[in-house]
Amino acid sequence: MTDPRPLAAADDVEQGKVVLRTEGITKRFGAVVVLRGVDIHLKQGEVLGLVGDNGAGKSTFVKILCGFLRPDSGRIILDGKDVEFHSVREARRHGIEALYQDLALVPQLTVYQNLFLNREQTFGGRLGFVRRRKMRELARQHLHQMNVNVPSVEAEVEQLSGGQRQAIAVARATLEVGKVLLLDEPLAAMGAKESALIIDLVHELSASGDTSMIVIDHNYAHLFELCDRVNVLQDGKVTLDKIVRDTSIEELTELMLSEYRLQVLTARTQLKGRVPEVST
Ligand SMILES: Nc1ncnc2c1ncn2[C@@H]1O[C@H](COP(=O)(O)OP(=O)(O)OP(=O)(O)O)[C@@H](O)[C@H]1O
Ligand SMILES: [Mg+2]
Repeated sequence: MTDPRPLAAADDVEQGKVVLRTEGITKRFGAVVVLRGVDIHLKQGEVLGLVGDNGAGKSTFVKILCGFLRPDSGRIILDGKDVEFHSVREARRHGIEALYQDLALVPQLTVYQNLFLNREQTFGGRLGFVRRRKMRELARQHLHQMNVNVPSVEAEVEQLSGGQRQAIAVARATLEVGKVLLLDEPLAAMGAKESALIIDLVHELSASGDTSMIVIDHNYAHLFELCDRVNVLQDGKVTLDKIVRDTSIEELTELMLSEYRLQVLTARTQLKGRVPEVST
């Protein structure tokens, strides 16, 4: 018999305080409906993996959670209260911080300026040069703590390698870690050392119990190492919600492949209806 609760995760995951919940999040871009009602929940200190094909809407969902995009409908409930974010800054004020897949660093600015972009208000005082000195010093300390190597905090980001840029983006997202951290493909373009650094960071943050995370990664091995629970996003909805030890790389791969096979079959059937059979 099949499980009557296809989306319910194991009972022990249902215990514990839910920090963030979404209900019925929808989003379309013109004629393209990307999200058709996404329901997720994230508990205190939990690491949730989000899996789905290219174009499934994972980044769109994360951008909605961090205030970069507005949903067309649906609810975001943070600590039991409905919230609406009109900007990334507003989401950040509520303790939601994101590392985007497309980085959003400003190449023409220096490393330290990127780290403190939109956070300048953290530094009071009217003396600009004092503020800059303090930002440079804090940037050096933070990068050193994170073991991130860059030539100088005064180097322009456009002079850095892809992996170094990614490391700066991660450092920025973790400069003031709030209660929710969203990591959209944090390991893409990372070397082995930098990947290990981020994996350690996620483990440390989750062990502290103060930060809950959503991680997107196409590499299931990474996800299984990082996450407590995994959600699959397909056709604009969550189609699987399981704690990691109750699923496997094989199950996730099979789910993705079956979606692909269905798409091929549907396309063939539609094509057959439209293209007249050629008689020989
Ligand atoms: N700003 C936008 N304007 C129009 N269409 C968009 C926009 N952003 C995303 N889309 C479309 O929405 C769909 C979902 O994109 P999204 O980036 O969320 O996918 P994803 O699951 O993150 O994919 P990937 O694994 O490749 O990163 C895609 O079809 C994409 O073309
Ligand atoms: Mg994406």
